[in-house]
Amino acid sequence: MRIPRSLGYVLKIALVMCFYTFALWVLFRVLASVTKPKKNRVLVDGEEDYLFDESDAEDETLLEHVAGNYVDLLRISKILDRRNSTEDYSLRMPSDVDLSEHKQSSALLQLLNAKENGTFLEAGAFDGEFFSNSLYLERNYGWRGVLVEPITKFYNEILSKKRKAVLLNACLSPKPWFEYMNMTIVRSGIFRIESMSSLHGYNMGDFDPEKHDQETVECYPIFDVLSAAKLTQLDVLMLDVQGAEEDILRTIPWRLVDIRVILVEISKFGKDHLPRKLFHQEQRLKAFLGKQGYDVKAVLGRDFIFVRE
Ligand SMILES: *[C@@H]1O[C@H](CO)[C@@H](O)[C@H](O)[C@H]1NC(C)=O
Ligand SMILES: *[C@@H]1O[C@H](CO)[C@@H](O)[C@H](O)[C@H]1NC(C)=O
Ligand SMILES: *[C@@H]1O[C@H](CO)[C@@H](O)[C@H](O)[C@H]1NC(C)=O
Repeated sequence: MRIPRSLGYVLKIALVMCFYTFALWVLFRVLASVTKPKKNRVLVDGEEDYLFDESDAEDETLLEHVAGNYVDLLRISKILDRRNSTEDYSLRMPSDVDLSEHKQSSALLQLLNAKENGTFLEAGAFDGEFFSNSLYLERNYGWRGVLVEPITKFYNEILSKKRKAVLLNACLSPKPWFEYMNMTIVRSGIFRIESMSSLHGYNMGDFDPEKHDQETVECYPIFDVLSAAKLTQLDVLMLDVQGAEEDILRTIPWRLVDIRVILVEISKFGKDHLPRKLFHQEQRLKAFLGKQGYDVKAVLGRDFIFVRE
């Protein structure tokens, strides 16, 4: 059979175009795979494989799916439920003093009409007494909650003070899954004990990590900690986490929890190599929590009190 010459040309051109289209497609795929940010793999129920990156953190459905499924709750083996403890406190200061740095406890009580038997989670609990935001509420108003402190030395001090709370020697994960992180422990001051813990990947200021103690800590998503404590309704979530606050808040599956007030210290530290600009940090957090229905009701020092309307 003889193919007319013009048809031959058309076929040739079509073939060449097909080839170029294919080559372009391959090129785009290669470029896309090279430039695309690497996603984290998350195993859900030990079977399904989820790809997760920062943009996915906006996806409430995905957060809900990962929440509580990824971490085997038994893995939070160090959790100690001391809420019903009848042992006497072993504290240095008398009970009628609000020890929080800027009287946050009193401000919270005022906001919540002197609520009794409220619930809290306090992350960055330090020794459970010095500048504690929750002690006054627990001791005088019957509040019960969770104390999270990653640094073992300070956690042991909480234990010895006989706080009536759920105690966890771990940190809150800045990711919606379990991670080990390295912390640097810094102490300074003579009369005022200051602790600062640096999470690997977060800039905590101009100190040399080589010169300070390091501790590898377990970090759990906040939802897993709340689930393990059987406490998904909180009157106040208290975060003093040195720059990780926004990332920790972004792991929360908001439809699965009920948090009325968030007390958060907006740290001048952050993930970047230089201390983040505070104003920018504040705006980001306000915008993010605003989307979840929270408004700033008070500012005490660097602590912002967000209330859900
Ligand atoms: C604490 O007491 C409450 C109320 O009596 C009870 O439901 C709960 O199981 C107790 N928790 C522990 C850890 O004993
Ligand atoms: C708080 O709990 C205590 C002890 O269980 C109880 O006696 C008191 O009535 C409770 N207060 C409120 C306002 O529920
Ligand atoms: C933590 O530090 C140890 C010892 O320096 C190192 O082997 C490990 O990879 C670090 N882990 C993380 C999560 O950075």
